[in-house]
Amino acid sequence: MPPDRLAAPSDPHALRHALGRFATGVTIVTTLAPDGHPIGLTVNSFNSLSLDPPLVLWSLRRSSPSLAAFRAAPRFAVNVLAESQIELSRSFASKVAHRFADGPWRRGDDGVPVLSGAAACFLCETASHQEAGDHELFIGRVLHMSDSHEPPLLFQGGRYRRLGPVL
Ligand SMILES: Cc1cc2nc3c(=O)[nH]c(=O)nc-3n(C[C@H](O)[C@H](O)[C@H](O)COP(=O)(O)O)c2cc1C
Repeated sequence: MPPDRLAAPSDPHALRHALGRFATGVTIVTTLAPDGHPIGLTVNSFNSLSLDPPLVLWSLRRSSPSLAAFRAAPRFAVNVLAESQIELSRSFASKVAHRFADGPWRRGDDGVPVLSGAAACFLCETASHQEAGDHELFIGRVLHMSDSHEPPLLFQGGRYRRLGPVL
């Protein structure tokens, strides 16, 4: 498609390709299932939404087996991955049975899993969730956070990337 020509997003492949031009970080969003099991998946739809009050958002595909647990959860954590955590990202995006076996983690407030070594972490209270097309949009109010100097893992064009020099 010529770059300056606008067209309807009728081709899913072209839509996915154009959306992939947008560079993001990579997170693992975690929560505790009603049966006490830790749940988590790799997510790059995370973004900041508001500073006052402190709100963040992310979206989960509605066919996910984790949907019911996230809908029911009063809290979730957004673990912003460091560059060194690329294997963790792959694992939490795969069908492996025990995603939490791969890296150290602990239980934060209300037992929500918090991953060790993340670039940052936002422990959130679920403020709202709503259907949005084939995804569910979650908005969280940040209750606690941590920060670090770890370089973040990036994702763009369907590939993992690292920070380059400052422009
Ligand atoms: C870099 C990256 C970003 C992703 N972002 C999302 C996302 O924002 N929302 C989502 O539902 N799935 C996303 N996925 C896909 C899920 O991680 C993957 O489908 C995972 O298996 C879902 O876990 P579940 O089977 O428990 O639903 C992403 C995958 C990768 C590799």
